[in-house]
Amino acid sequence: MTTEALNIVDQRTNVAYALPLNKGTIRATDLRQIKTGPEDFGVMSYDPAFLNTASCQSAITFIDGDKGILRYRGYPIEQLAEKCTFLEVAYLIIHGELPTESQLKTWVDDITHHTMLHEKTKEFLQGFNHDAHPMGMFISTVAALSTVYPEARNVHDPEVRKLQIRRLIGKVPTIAAYTYRHGLGYPYIYPDNELSYTENFMNMLWRMVEPKYRANPALSRALDILFILHADHEQNCSANVMRAVGSSQADPFVCTAAAAAALSGPLHGGANEEVLKMLDEIGTKDHVPAYIQQIKAGHGKLMGFGHRIYKNYDPRARIIKWAADQVFLTTGRNPKLDIALELERIALEDEYFIKRKLYPNVDFYSGIIYQALGFKPDIFTVLFAIPRTVGWLAQWQEMLQDPEQKIARPRQIYTGYPERNYVPIEKRTGQALAAGG
Ligand SMILES: CC(C)(COP(=O)(O)OP(=O)(O)OC[C@H]1O[C@@H](n2cnc3c(N)ncnc32)[C@H](O)[C@@H]1OP(=O)(O)O)[C@@H](O)C(=O)NCCC(=O)NCCS
Repeated sequence: MTTEALNIVDQRTNVAYALPLNKGTIRATDLRQIKTGPEDFGVMSYDPAFLNTASCQSAITFIDGDKGILRYRGYPIEQLAEKCTFLEVAYLIIHGELPTESQLKTWVDDITHHTMLHEKTKEFLQGFNHDAHPMGMFISTVAALSTVYPEARNVHDPEVRKLQIRRLIGKVPTIAAYTYRHGLGYPYIYPDNELSYTENFMNMLWRMVEPKYRANPALSRALDILFILHADHEQNCSANVMRAVGSSQADPFVCTAAAAAALSGPLHGGANEEVLKMLDEIGTKDHVPAYIQQIKAGHGKLMGFGHRIYKNYDPRARIIKWAADQVFLTTGRNPKLDIALELERIALEDEYFIKRKLYPNVDFYSGIIYQALGFKPDIFTVLFAIPRTVGWLAQWQEMLQDPEQKIARPRQIYTGYPERNYVPIEKRTGQALAAGG
């Protein structure tokens, strides 16, 4: 039990309150005792966009944004990226500990045996337009799995949860690969259970008429590392959506689809697609200073820069830069890298970016590697969603097992009209509020 407290004096009543402090945090509900009288609802805290509100306790991912530290279950991201496979890290994130050799074997086997999609789900995918955005296809198809596995609604049964977690981790690369091939008009490729998670994903993306797909080991390792770096990132926008939707006890397929929808926005996972567009727009290295001036003048944002939590170099960006060099040894250098490096160099010396602590984030370099690997920008966010599914599921499971959690339901400060009387249609002026159009 904590003995620390925060003393608050309400100047309206002169009453003093001691609010218990635990790990530097007060409970927002403790504010409710601060009232002017029995009719008063009590004090609330107002925090649009959760700038200073912890919505849960979590033991999954630790970030120190000022120091540029990221750890999964206590292990530094640098060590995991160097020494583990993605599925090993997925096991760690879901179960809390690194697997033993036999646990890893069973886990890999389990995931591998859940990679197939129901043929009807495949047909569902075939119904999309040839130019459908892969992320729209991904989100809808993940949601559609809910209709294939109705037992998934039983979210309080640990065995049911365990099975859906394996299904989702197994199936997201298959869905992702099909969204990719759909746009190209190629037939969908069935999973190959002899290959590793990442190799099999590459097989489903790129196999043509050859009887067996053989992945380039340097490229499959780079993709595996990218997956490790993207696996979880504590309470970001999509993890928060996963928890919020999951708190209504919806099944994990629709929860994951909702989280993926949050990821699709350009301020979240869609940023790496925007980085590539930005690099195309800049065109050459010598246009970089003028582009930066334009950003500083308030015309747009430097995509792939800045982060709500990191006020230092994003540790994932550093590892990605290293992985990019390994990829370029095989694929040849992506000329966009020179523009990106110049942008980074100038931005990191510029007062505007220094003052606001804006550094490259994970999306700044990931798109450049993805492009070198042969992906088009519209699939980048889907590549992010594959590994992040692991993080979402760990967050979802932790939320369901936390006795303090309930259905997520924020408060509001009402700013609308007080009560007013109904106006008959012939007497209405037709003036609508600007936002409502
Ligand atoms: C990630 C992001 C949404 C974080 O936003 P946030 O925590 O709400 O930060 P703010 O928008 O309050 O930014 C603080 C200041 O830095 C500026 N800023 C933030 N990111 C910037 C960027 N990428 N380029 C230029 N200026 C930026 C803001 O304009 C603001 O300036 P001001 O104080 O003069 O108004 C934001 O940095 C961003 O939009 N980055 C680009 C998109 C991106 O790369 N997203 C991927 C995240 S992994």
